[in-house]
Amino acid sequence: MVDAAGLLIDPEAVEFLAERGFAGPRVGFVLGSGWGHFVESTEVLAACPYEEIPGFGRSTVAGHAGRLVRGRAGGRDYLALQGRLHHYEGHPLSRIGGTVGALHGLGVTELIVTCAAGGVNPAFRVGDLVLVHDFINFMFASPLRGAPGSLRSPARVSERLVRATEEAAAGAGIPLRKGVLFSSKGPSYETPAEVRMTRTLGGDVVSMSTAPELIAASALGLEAVALSCVTNLAPGVVPGGEVNHEEVMEVMTARKERFSELLACVLEKLESDREATVGGK
Ligand code: HPA
Repeated sequence: MVDAAGLLIDPEAVEFLAERGFAGPRVGFVLGSGWGHFVESTEVLAACPYEEIPGFGRSTVAGHAGRLVRGRAGGRDYLALQGRLHHYEGHPLSRIGGTVGALHGLGVTELIVTCAAGGVNPAFRVGDLVLVHDFINFMFASPLRGAPGSLRSPARVSERLVRATEEAAAGAGIPLRKGVLFSSKGPSYETPAEVRMTRTLGGDVVSMSTAPELIAASALGLEAVALSCVTNLAPGVVPGGEVNHEEVMEVMTARKERFSELLACVLEKLESDREATVGGK
């Protein structure tokens, strides 16, 4: 039987990155559209383009730097996938899951997955930050496919990381919504009828990513949580709602200070919580 680690962790990639100084940090980030600014707001200690990492693919979407970064914020080291691989770019979900596997192989045990998203809950506003406490994988595929004969427990967002993120945001005075993320396959943004369907099925925000990384993280035993920034109100929720990638990036740029501060506070919170536990493990 192939277990999740055998499926998702490529020892060659881990060795390649460990030799270049990426091993050690316990907190990892997957930085989606626009979220890469967090890295720029911190000290960059090491960076490696995805093309150079064995088994990784190239990130082709505007606004996704496509590199692995070891950075430091407030004296705390982190690893970040600055820009993600998307299924709609043609990357198999196993490869996307493999990027999480590489982080884990390097020592990451707590993962914050971020994305830009359309607001489906009519109470949400453009610019809202949403803490994802659960998700719907509507990609009709899984990064765990290929593990013969092994059915999996449902993926879980970590309740501890949800609480830690809420506390970090409250401490910094950053308002947070909470909701369910609906991950669609893309690359087309959803039609109004599809958006109404996501709402009927229980989604509060919709994006074309994030579920694969959460599923991979859960199977590998990482604690993971996700954050979305609402960049548009999805068509079909509000009359005349429209969306394109340029507008998504504009909204993210306008919010970059706030979400970067939130991620720095979450990093600080997770590290200080770990220090406070017996043995600092
Ligand atoms: N749908 C899917 N993905 C998105 C959206 C959306 O409306 N906005 C930003 N990413």
